[in-house]
Amino acid sequence: MKVTIIGGGGRVGSCAAFALQCAGLVADLQILDANKDLGEGEALDLLHGSALAGDQRIYSGGYTRAADSDLFLITAGLRRKPDESRLDLINRNVALFLQILDSMRSAGIRQDAHVFVVSNPVDILTQLAVRRLGLPWNQVYGLGTMLDTSRFSSFIAEALKLAPTQVKALILGEHGDSMVPVWSSATVNGLPLTGIPECTPSFQNSLFERTKGSGAEVIKKKGGAGWAVGIAIRDVIHAVLLNKRALMPVSSLVQGPYEIRDICISVPSIIGRRGVEKHVEIKLWPKELMGLQQSAKALGETLGKVKV
Ligand code: 2OP
Repeated sequence: MKVTIIGGGGRVGSCAAFALQCAGLVADLQILDANKDLGEGEALDLLHGSALAGDQRIYSGGYTRAADSDLFLITAGLRRKPDESRLDLINRNVALFLQILDSMRSAGIRQDAHVFVVSNPVDILTQLAVRRLGLPWNQVYGLGTMLDTSRFSSFIAEALKLAPTQVKALILGEHGDSMVPVWSSATVNGLPLTGIPECTPSFQNSLFERTKGSGAEVIKKKGGAGWAVGIAIRDVIHAVLLNKRALMPVSSLVQGPYEIRDICISVPSIIGRRGVEKHVEIKLWPKELMGLQQSAKALGETLGKVKV
């Protein structure tokens, strides 16, 4: 598989590149960045480790060289200011994002290529990519609440002194202020987390609030996310590459599940070779379902304001 990282000179793109290099499954990694030197520098730095890390081909290049990519990972974008919501980013990033899509189209993008959006506001930009590129909807998806789900599960594990990889606690909805915690299916090694005495409603709320604010928290402390988002990106790409049929909360065009229509949002999705193989409408608690539908409504209202 060849992956081209558009914005690969930035923190998110380079962390994703490093995560993919260390895993050693992707055959070709192309770093594409508007800042040519930065893109070349990141590709060079990664290449320097190839003899120890693995046999991938790693190089920089522009849209013409990227035309043969199997998957375009788009991480380019301006970062949110600590007090700015992801949706506030929208106008600053939409113009840049549409330029990227048009450059991809004019350089030529294969009809079987995948487009994986990470740039924020990721749900809105994923929807623009679906509309603009004319690829099958299942081949265009966003990181959605994958990173939020990892943060949520990691915080729960830390607070309850559990093994992080055994804690599975989903966040669904918008990758943003209206995201929804799904305690109804939260487990530790298959056992319900809500069955643990310490997991009281106030414990649950404090962990969710911390999760919701952790994008801004990491921006404030170090300027922006990198390591965890790189791993979340790696897991989605591996699910495609290995045809895992893994259930993941990625953002894609939802047409019907949870009575949501025509909105890119994170619902439980099976990820495999074809991208989003299908959506799985797992049963939610009434308040979770209401939260998810409200999240879809918020995204729909924002989408209506986007000048494209
Ligand atoms: C975050 O939440 C990058 O949006 C991402 O940090």
